[in-house]
Amino acid sequence: MKRLNKFISDSGVCSRRKADDLILNGSVSVNGKVVRELGTKVNENDSVSVLGKVITNELKEYYLLYKPREVISAVKDDKNRKVVVDLIDTKARIYPIGRLDYDTTGIILLTNDGELSNILTHPKNDIPKEYLAKVKGFFKKEDAIKLSKGVIIDGSLTKPAIFKLKKYDKKTDSSYVKVIITEGRNHQVKNMFAFLNYDTLKLKREKYAFLTLGNLKSGEYRKLSLKEVKKLYSLK
Ligand code: URA
Repeated sequence: MKRLNKFISDSGVCSRRKADDLILNGSVSVNGKVVRELGTKVNENDSVSVLGKVITNELKEYYLLYKPREVISAVKDDKNRKVVVDLIDTKARIYPIGRLDYDTTGIILLTNDGELSNILTHPKNDIPKEYLAKVKGFFKKEDAIKLSKGVIIDGSLTKPAIFKLKKYDKKTDSSYVKVIITEGRNHQVKNMFAFLNYDTLKLKREKYAFLTLGNLKSGEYRKLSLKEVKKLYSLK
């Protein structure tokens, strides 16, 4: 038996706190009956529905995928392009934690654990994400300082970040820049470079919190260990 709010958050629908709100406002039924008591306990044989939809309590799964280019960070795509969950062999209803652009490669986590997903994407938890970007031209020191301190994107200041030139390739007139950001706004790295007129030619996420790609090749994945999952939970 487990508490109803935990059953709901374990199913990936929302956080435990949000589940309490849904229970209190009469959006949750157990075996066809609306339940408003927060202390209600259920087991796996009970049929729980939220906003009219039955939810299941499948086992939690956690994957680390090396996302290739030309794959969408979603569960399905309306244009029928390949999506990240297509690359993982499971029957569980997993989804990506956050997003990488269609042409961005690198580390992305997938799970059916809504609670962990909420922890890792909540802005207050400041989860560091590290990228290697290739940008056109020479990336100037003064620009690294500006971007690291923060610039205004979509009307608000970006949080402190790290932008550091790793290498300048004279032949192709392009720079390799290490970037660490803790936010997850749409196209954030590209938009930050674009703010100072740098064109991002390539972007790869090399690290997510403490997790790296290790020996994985593009398109490969592995399960996270219990220890890694616990460590991710502790970032709250
Ligand atoms: N920033 C971007 O611009 N794109 C990504 O895919 C990730 C971060």
